Amino acid sequence: MKDVSDPDTEVRRTSSFDQTVRICSRWKVFLLLVCLFHSSLSSLLDCPPTCTCSSTEIYCNKSDNSSISQLLSFHMAGAENMSESILDLFQNITSIYLENWIGLKVLKDVDMELYPGLQRLTITQSSLHTLHPRVFSKNLNLRFINLSMNPMLKTLSWHVFEHLQLTALHLEGVVFSCGCEIRWLQLWQQRGEAGLSSQQLTCSTGHTHILLLDMNVTNCDLPVVSVSHSNLTVVEGDEVTVICNGSALPIPEVDWAVNGLHSITTQQDKVYNNSIHSITIILANVKREDNNFWLNCTANNIVGSANASVHLIVHFPPSIEKLKEPERRHDTCIEFTVRGSPHPSLRWFHEDKEISHNEYIRQDMDIYNDDLEGCLLFKNPTHYNNGNYTLKATNYLGEVNRTVYGHFLEMPPPDYDYGTPTAETHKPLEDPFGVSMAVGLAVFACVILVVLFVLINKYGRRSKFIIKGPGAVMSGEENSASPLHHVNHGIISPCALDVGLDSVVIGMSRIPIIENPQYFRHGHNGTKPTTYVQHIKRRDIILKRELGEGAFGKVFLAECYNLSPTKDKMLVAVKTLKDPTLAARKDFQHEAELLTNLQHEHIVKFYGVCVDGDPLIMVFEYMKHGDLNKFLRAHGPDATILVDGQPLQTNGELGLSQMLHIASQIAGGMIYLASQHFVHRDLATRNCLVGNGLLVKIGDFGMSRDIYSTDYYRVGGHTMLPIRWMPPESIMYRKFTTESDVWSFGVILWEIFTYGKQPWFQLANNEVIECITQGRVLERPRVCPKEVYDIMLGCWQREPQQRLIIKDIQKKLLALMKSTPVYLDILG
Ligand SMILES: *[C@@H]1O[C@H](CO)[C@@H](O)[C@H](O)[C@H]1NC(C)=O
Ligand SMILES: *[C@@H]1O[C@H](CO)[C@@H](O)[C@H](O)[C@H]1NC(C)=O
Ligand SMILES: *[C@@H]1O[C@H](CO)[C@@H](O)[C@H](O)[C@H]1NC(C)=O
Ligand SMILES: *[C@@H]1O[C@H](CO)[C@@H](O)[C@H](O)[C@H]1NC(C)=O
Ligand SMILES: *[C@@H]1O[C@H](CO)[C@@H](O)[C@H](O)[C@H]1NC(C)=O
Ligand SMILES: *[C@@H]1O[C@H](CO)[C@@H](O)[C@H](O)[C@H]1NC(C)=O
Ligand SMILES: *[C@@H]1O[C@H](CO)[C@@H](O)[C@H](O)[C@H]1NC(C)=O
Ligand SMILES: *[C@@H]1O[C@H](CO)[C@@H](O)[C@H](O)[C@H]1NC(C)=O
Ligand SMILES: *[C@@H]1O[C@H](CO)[C@@H](O)[C@H](O)[C@H]1NC(C)=O
Ligand SMILES: *[C@@H]1O[C@H](CO)[C@@H](O)[C@H](O)[C@H]1NC(C)=O
Ligand SMILES: *[C@@H]1O[C@H](CO)[C@@H](O)[C@H](O)[C@H]1NC(C)=O
Ligand SMILES: *[C@@H]1O[C@H](CO)[C@@H](O)[C@H](O)[C@H]1NC(C)=O
Repeated sequence: MKDVSDPDTEVRRTSSFDQTVRICSRWKVFLLLVCLFHSSLSSLLDCPPTCTCSSTEIYCNKSDNSSISQLLSFHMAGAENMSESILDLFQNITSIYLENWIGLKVLKDVDMELYPGLQRLTITQSSLHTLHPRVFSKNLNLRFINLSMNPMLKTLSWHVFEHLQLTALHLEGVVFSCGCEIRWLQLWQQRGEAGLSSQQLTCSTGHTHILLLDMNVTNCDLPVVSVSHSNLTVVEGDEVTVICNGSALPIPEVDWAVNGLHSITTQQDKVYNNSIHSITIILANVKREDNNFWLNCTANNIVGSANASVHLIVHFPPSIEKLKEPERRHDTCIEFTVRGSPHPSLRWFHEDKEISHNEYIRQDMDIYNDDLEGCLLFKNPTHYNNGNYTLKATNYLGEVNRTVYGHFLEMPPPDYDYGTPTAETHKPLEDPFGVSMAVGLAVFACVILVVLFVLINKYGRRSKFIIKGPGAVMSGEENSASPLHHVNHGIISPCALDVGLDSVVIGMSRIPIIENPQYFRHGHNGTKPTTYVQHIKRRDIILKRELGEGAFGKVFLAECYNLSPTKDKMLVAVKTLKDPTLAARKDFQHEAELLTNLQHEHIVKFYGVCVDGDPLIMVFEYMKHGDLNKFLRAHGPDATILVDGQPLQTNGELGLSQMLHIASQIAGGMIYLASQHFVHRDLATRNCLVGNGLLVKIGDFGMSRDIYSTDYYRVGGHTMLPIRWMPPESIMYRKFTTESDVWSFGVILWEIFTYGKQPWFQLANNEVIECITQGRVLERPRVCPKEVYDIMLGCWQREPQQRLIIKDIQKKLLALMKSTPVYLDILG
């Protein structure tokens, strides 16, 4: 650019000033154009006075002696750099009509190329006598051409219309000169192309006008093409010779199209007998890139053209272009690309042993021209799959192999057994003697309890014995229950398949549980005789709206009448069991009995069942703010989720004291669970519910596995494990204990202090397993005080016995809450 500030060169300054002025005026024109852009094209186009213009059409039906370039006059007036925006304008023109333009004699490609969107063109009663052969080369959308009544038009070449897909070509009233030049038109008319057969086309022999269809021309025929092969199969490096003959009179031009061919070619042409034009093409040293190339030969003369193709197939030995290390996608994939022609057959070896494909390892590939691209897919690979993988590709020209090391999982401790998860605590029950012992003990316990019950009734409630013992559960108020309970051999439990044990149910999600044998003796069987499940009448339940849906059925918000002695009606959450089988019904009843037996202020309340008619219903306390995870996300720094479609009452971000309050309530619920010898197995914020006044309770409606499916790791089709919340021993040995629940509580704390982030969110399930089993723990959340993180670390001790006890955790939390103002200061 010119240096405007240079003081020595006055002249230069002036010129640059001039330029500035010019640019300004151009800008004015441009702005003007922009302003008018949408109003009307005519004002822009400088629409000729004899025409009317719209944004899609130019229509000129008055006498005019200008040439077509007059249409472009405005273009000249504008600046060169504007052509882009101008082109945009022209793009929308779909129709041009020119009548009586006596100045229009020749139509060239430059006249038409501005209108790529043109579909209909009429030029009539003009002085048009010549259309350039390539005139419509840019008007690929042209479908309708009307050149009727152009007296000067004597001849027309088929090249003009060669690449168009015309639906109509109107030439009425045009008198051509008879001859070979318009023989093509006669052929089109005979074939009925472009609506020509219905028109009366005529030609002049000099003195008389005859119908075009009656014209006799000798030595004027369409070319005929013949090629020496229809297909050619060669090996890379060979030499190939193909001949193409085009025969006709007048003798045609013949051409091999070699655009895009990689091999080097030479062509030789020969003419036989004045009517055969022969071209020999030689491909020396054929390249593999030319596999599947179509060699096309065209012959054309004044009458028309013809073509023929040769399919070239080049064979070459296989090569492995790509073999990547395993990568986690939907399934784990070793990605590969193999080239070869013919397509090589592929074989896979793991440590020199051929892999037979099965449901755990299979190959999935797409076949392209000469590429095979795909994956060797692994479903839930384990450390057994670690090792070198060799891909061998073979066709008749050769064989190649390539090896990649696949690392899937770290080898777990030697006694880790993937196939049959077991639990140490359960083992005694597997031995028949143990079972009979347990049953015997249970019967004994029953008898003892019945005796005790009688004694208690007889001697009143003064006895201290009952308050301390596990019998406290059964002596609770029977109409206030909690949704946490045992199920014997949960038949519909997804996890029962792989554990075959009792499960604990919170809401209705069944989680297999390893029973403490002690509990069997004193709690489970002992409580049974006294369990009374409250029945609620169907007419007392009025469904209001759906809260969610799980695999079992739906959860609704409902109104329930006559539930509480103090209130006429109250809001409840009801869970429906759809299409219950007989087994499911029994199970439902059993569950309800067990649910009734647990109650605590931080366990979601179970009110009872409704079994008169379908569906079966369980009635729970309604917790207004839904699950804790959603609640946390809604109160995070970047909260976008609204609770029940509305912003929450609690304003804005949760503070430290609120977080501690939430955590200590969950700890409270857990202390109760531990006292009942329950192992929860799926403690997580998604399985806690939030009510008014930041009241938090353990309990959910069994929808987590549907709604939060990414929090679970699917094992063997049915089992879904919350591995991100699980300690190493649960992951490795499926061992679940009160201590493993404590680990999960540490993860809950982490969730609370990250406002509901998914633990290890940046890692895939496989990687999470690897991290946890290798002893890594979650990092300290940004807003988490050191004292709280120390609690988390106390929960995440590798040795279960070294973990904090839930009672102590709650004490620490309560202590921290007391001193919270101080902490808030520290946090700033
Ligand atoms: C041109 O067309 C317009 C409307 O399309 C019509 O009003 C006018 O009479 C026509 N003029 C001639 C000369 O045909
Ligand atoms: C063509 O139009 C111009 C005016 O634009 C006029 O001077 C000239 O005579 C016209 N020629 C014919 C042949 O009509
Ligand atoms: C016009 O375009 C050319 C390049 O296409 C550019 O160098 C020149 O600066 C442009 N002029 C204006 C006035 O935009
Ligand atoms: C061109 O057509 C497109 C689509 O029909 C439209 O969006 C655009 O505004 C038109 N441009 C002009 C200048 O009419
Ligand atoms: C073609 O143009 C002529 C002359 O304007 C007209 O008479 C004829 O109807 C047009 N043909 C079609 C199909 O529009
Ligand atoms: C063209 O030849 C045919 C017979 O081959 C004949 O009937 C016809 O009259 C000839 N047409 C003319 C215009 O000579
Ligand atoms: C081409 O024409 C020559 C001469 O007539 C003939 O010998 C040859 O076989 C023809 N080749 C093909 C491919 O038609
Ligand atoms: C190749 O051409 C031969 C005849 O020349 C024919 O029999 C064969 O089917 C063709 N093969 C393919 C793949 O087109
Ligand atoms: C050469 O052309 C004449 C007629 O034009 C024909 O009789 C003869 O068979 C042709 N010869 C060859 C080799 O095609
Ligand atoms: C040959 O013709 C086929 C269709 O007939 C076309 O797909 C291919 O692109 C052509 N090849 C060349 C090199 O023009
Ligand atoms: C895998 O192959 C590499 C060399 O190809 C070798 O060094 C390594 O020991 C092999 N690993 C196993 C597990 O066989
Ligand atoms: C892989 O290829 C090498 C030569 O490139 C050969 O020595 C080796 O035996 C092949 N391995 C297999 C498994 O075929």
